[in-house]
Amino acid sequence: MKTFENITELRGFLKKFHKEDKTIGLVPTMGYLHEGHMSLVKTARKECDIIVASIFVNPAQFAPNEDLESYPRDLKKDLHLLEKEGCDIVFLPENNEIYNNDFETYINLEKLPKHLCGLSRPTHFRGVATVVTKLFNIIQPGKAYFGQKDYQQILVIKKLIRDLNVPVKIIMCPIVRNDDGLALSSRNMYLTKDERKDAVLLHQSLLKGVERIKAGNKEINEIIVDIKAIISQSQHAKVDYISISNGETLKEIGSIKGYKGLVLLAGAVRFGKSRLIDNELVEL
Ligand code: PAJ
Repeated sequence: MKTFENITELRGFLKKFHKEDKTIGLVPTMGYLHEGHMSLVKTARKECDIIVASIFVNPAQFAPNEDLESYPRDLKKDLHLLEKEGCDIVFLPENNEIYNNDFETYINLEKLPKHLCGLSRPTHFRGVATVVTKLFNIIQPGKAYFGQKDYQQILVIKKLIRDLNVPVKIIMCPIVRNDDGLALSSRNMYLTKDERKDAVLLHQSLLKGVERIKAGNKEINEIIVDIKAIISQSQHAKVDYISISNGETLKEIGSIKGYKGLVLLAGAVRFGKSRLIDNELVEL
């Protein structure tokens, strides 16, 4: 496995694979890797000739009051896990390799970031869209792998590659969970023992919502009230949002009477210092 910090050197190394028409698969991450990230690498390994994973804690997607400084890091373990899974190349840029001092070009989507996580993190998706576009330009992968865990992020990326004609195929991989249903996340490590116990309520409440939608319950507002009631069983929980929306546009659905298509049940809840997100998709 080779590692690169420098864009020019990475591009030089990738040149021969592009010439030979090898399929390059990109797995972008912010490190502190767990089984969720590794599931993306495993899927990429099956589908691509060359796997590039990137580890970069992207400052542009953190607001000043967020956890950029304390974001967990363990490069040695990350490299060990990636090597074990058969990753070929790891891109590990420093901040100034990605954002030079007079950097001023950002990718802004007009609509998708105005929903869900974008409401409480208004600059987040601009940071994600910008860094992912840069990674696409630097690496020029044929396929890129993202987790359903960050469903809004996938929609943003799918939209930007369509709007900007970026020739990459986006592959969405399922959410990897702990045995009790909690979605794996680098931020789970901030949870105290009690918060960790209660954090399963987020997934359990969303599953209850799925059940009610499938049973033909039509009033979305009632379902949302019930989901929130389950979460508020925990004294540690503070709901940021619970939303039931169109799985393509993220516009909230009022009633599922006559609704056809993909429904997204998504939530963000703070347990102590950790803001956890999760979602479920239902096709109607
Ligand atoms: P990060 O949070 O490190 O996640 C990297 C990738 O792993 C994302 O596509 C995310 O959806 C996926 N992932 C995380 N937890 C998962 C789980 N439990 N199951 C399945 N996949 C999971 O997302 C980012 O980094 C950044 O925004 C990034 C795209 C790298 C841009 O900076």
